[in-house]
Amino acid sequence: MTKPQIRPATGAQYSRIHGVGGYRPVRVIPNSEVLEWIDSSDEWIRTRSGIAERRWAGPEESVAEMSVQAAGKAIAQAGITPEQIGGVIVSTVSHLKQTPAIATEIAQRLGCGTAPAFDISAACAGFGYGLGLADGMVRGGNAEYVLVIGVERLSDLTDKSDRSTAFIFGDGAGAAIVGPSNTPGIGKLIWGSDGSQADVISQTQAWDTAFAKPDAINGQGEEQKWPALRMDGQPVFRWAVWEMAKVAQQALDAAGITADQLGAFIPHQANMRITDAMIKALKLPASVPVARDIAETGNTSAASIPLAMERMLESGEAHSGDLALIIGFGAGLVYAAAVVTLP
Ligand code: UT7
Repeated sequence: MTKPQIRPATGAQYSRIHGVGGYRPVRVIPNSEVLEWIDSSDEWIRTRSGIAERRWAGPEESVAEMSVQAAGKAIAQAGITPEQIGGVIVSTVSHLKQTPAIATEIAQRLGCGTAPAFDISAACAGFGYGLGLADGMVRGGNAEYVLVIGVERLSDLTDKSDRSTAFIFGDGAGAAIVGPSNTPGIGKLIWGSDGSQADVISQTQAWDTAFAKPDAINGQGEEQKWPALRMDGQPVFRWAVWEMAKVAQQALDAAGITADQLGAFIPHQANMRITDAMIKALKLPASVPVARDIAETGNTSAASIPLAMERMLESGEAHSGDLALIIGFGAGLVYAAAVVTLP
């Protein structure tokens, strides 16, 4: 008897981003407000990070709410219906309820039927990680369209008295629809991690030590402290400048694209000086538009690339069909870069 053979899933030959959308919280926090919390200056914050203001979410602007708003725009731009979405991936490090995944609530609120929905944790590389998974799902035949969301409420994890991070983080959501394409629209993802540097950006303490079980509290009488994000800025800065330019170049090479063929460079919005250093290392021609959304948005981790992408398309700096180099990098450490066709 011949051994039965499984019929494998078959998907689209290529995939691309069909739509992108963002949500920016209403409340603007200018540098002047940050100066009420920390000893700094507007000039220092602007010259060292490039940030002039950031947005912080209000009570109604939850991780789910911001995601639904951003996703609605991406779905509309893609010209599909929510029922066509066969996968919802939400990348976040600041949704404070661990179970269930916030992706299922978002999928349900959008009307995505029974689409598989799950969260991933890849910090500032989260959008790229999600994009890579979505590309595989579409080309592998396990979904026709996949919704990728990067969303953060980093204000919930910001220690307003910490001089090295209080001015950096912002809140927001960015979303993209990945689906089938007749031509290649997402290049090979160059992604990776370096756990030897896990400590350079991390939560100050785990939830179980921050909120010890009642008997432990009774036993030790420890003070409870809300965890916050802590960053050892300089090593992260050095790693980003030296290592990430190489990763970005690898993504270009893998896609068979040269820097002068790009219509946009959209790096994670971590620090304007990191962006400038990468431009130099990549020898990016001055004619290539560069995302500088950090000035008004701060560092929104997983949301920063889709937010910046939406802004560049809306402002006319970049155009649908242009090639864009995206690169995310952050806590883990983790990174992900690829060349994509803009929706
Ligand atoms: O999104 C995930 C990935 N994250 C990143 O890629 C962030 C990477 N790191 C950075 O962007 C930068 O390291 C920061 C913007 C966080 C800090 O900039 P820096 O140039 O690395 O500052 P520093 O920590 O080396 O401090 C330089 C000086 C110090 O003073 P002295 O010792 O030179 O007198 C600090 O005390 O600036 C001082 N300083 C400040 N001054 C005013 C540190 N923080 C502040 C502040 N305001 N908030």
